[in-house]
Amino acid sequence: MRAVIQERYGSPDDLVVREVAEPEVGDAEVLVRVRAASLHPDVWHVVTGRPAILRLMGAGLLRPRNPIPGTDMAGVVERVGTAVTTFRPGDAVFGETIASQQWTNGGAFAEYVAVRAEWLAPKPEEVSFEQAASVPSSGFIAWLNLRDVGRLQPGRKVLVNGAGGGVGSLAVQIVKSHGAHVTAVDRAGKLEMLRSLGADEVVDCEREDFTLRGLRYDLVFDIPGTRPLSELRRALEPDGRYVPIGHEGFGASGRRLFGLIPHFLRLMLLSRFVRPLQSSGVPPPGRKETLAGLRDLLAAGRITPVIDSAYPLDAVREAFRRMIGGESRGKVVLTG
Ligand SMILES: NC(=O)c1ccc[n+]([C@@H]2O[C@H](COP(=O)([O-])OP(=O)(O)OC[C@H]3O[C@@H](n4cnc5c(N)ncnc54)[C@H](OP(=O)(O)O)[C@@H]3O)[C@@H](O)[C@H]2O)c1
Repeated sequence: MRAVIQERYGSPDDLVVREVAEPEVGDAEVLVRVRAASLHPDVWHVVTGRPAILRLMGAGLLRPRNPIPGTDMAGVVERVGTAVTTFRPGDAVFGETIASQQWTNGGAFAEYVAVRAEWLAPKPEEVSFEQAASVPSSGFIAWLNLRDVGRLQPGRKVLVNGAGGGVGSLAVQIVKSHGAHVTAVDRAGKLEMLRSLGADEVVDCEREDFTLRGLRYDLVFDIPGTRPLSELRRALEPDGRYVPIGHEGFGASGRRLFGLIPHFLRLMLLSRFVRPLQSSGVPPPGRKETLAGLRDLLAAGRITPVIDSAYPLDAVREAFRRMIGGESRGKVVLTG
C-alpha cells in the first residue's frame, strides 16, 4: 500500500510517500481502507518531535516508533479480525487509530490502517468521509472539557477563544446545541464561518480584547490559553469557570523541551485555590462513549464539521503548509 513515511523528527517537508506492506490485522482489529484522514496540531508535534518530551512519552526516542503519521480517519472496513463481531467488510466507519495520549503516530496517513474495533464507530450517512475524519480527537478534546453541561444551558453565556480551529469550531456547535449563548473569538477571516456555525456574537481578536468588553461569561473555553488569570477574571462571572486548552502555535511558543506541560502543572496546582479553575466534579468521559456521542451529534446535524481543503496523500507536505499557514477555514484533510 502507499503511505506517508516519517523517517525522523524534523519538518513536514521531510515526509515522503512510499509503498510499504499492508498492516497485520490483530484478532480484535479491523483493517480499514482509509478514505480520509485529518491533520491536527498533535500530528504536527509528532512529525517535528517538538516538544522533545514527547519522545519519552511513547512516540519513539530517536525516531518515531510508528513511521506512519496520522490518528483521525474515516474509511471502509476491508476485513475484520477473528474476534470482531461489531463490523463487517463494507461498513463505513470513523475514529482514532490510537486511544492513549495524542503524541504518537497512529498510521492513518496510508491507504490502509489496522484499528481496534472498539475505537471505531459507524460513520453517519449524513456526513462525508472528510467530515467524519475531522471529528474524533478534536471532538474528544471539546467534549472532555465541556462535560459540565450545567454551564451550557439556555441563558448561560459561553465564550470560545480560538473558535475558528478544529477544536473550537466543534466546541461552538456543541455549546450552541445545548442552547447557551455563544461568543466566538478568532481572527477576522474566520468570523463569517463562525457565524454560520451558530455563534451569537463574534469578536476579532486582533481588533478587540474580549477581557476589556465589560461583558462577563459563565464559561471561557480558551484554546490559545495565553492570557494571565488576572486578565481573564475580568471576563468571568463571579462563579464563572475558565477551561484552558493550550496551543503552541506550531512552535511559536518556543517551548522546545517540555511544551505547555509546566504551564498546565502550574494551573493544576492553582486549581486547588483558584475558583475559576476548579474542576466540575463531572468524571471525564471515555473515548468510546465520546465517539458514540459525537456520532449522534453528526447524524442529527447538531455538529457540521467544516472542511477547508482536501489533498491527496502525495501532497501531504502542502497539506501541512496549509494547516500551519493560518489561512485555513476549517480542517485540512488527506484523501485516498
Ligand atoms: N485538533 C485535535 O484533534 C486535537 C486533539 C487533541 C489536542 N488538541 C490540542 O488542542 C489545541 C487546539 O487544536 P485545534 O485543532 O483547535 O488548533 P487550530 O485548528 O490551530 O485552532 C486554533 C485557533 O485559534 C486561533 N488563534 C490563535 N491565536 C489566537 C489568539 N491569540 N486569540 C484568538 N484566537 C487565536 C487560530 O488562528 P490562526 O490559525 O489564524 O493562528 C486558530 O483558528 C492544540 O494545542 C492541540 O494540540 C487538538
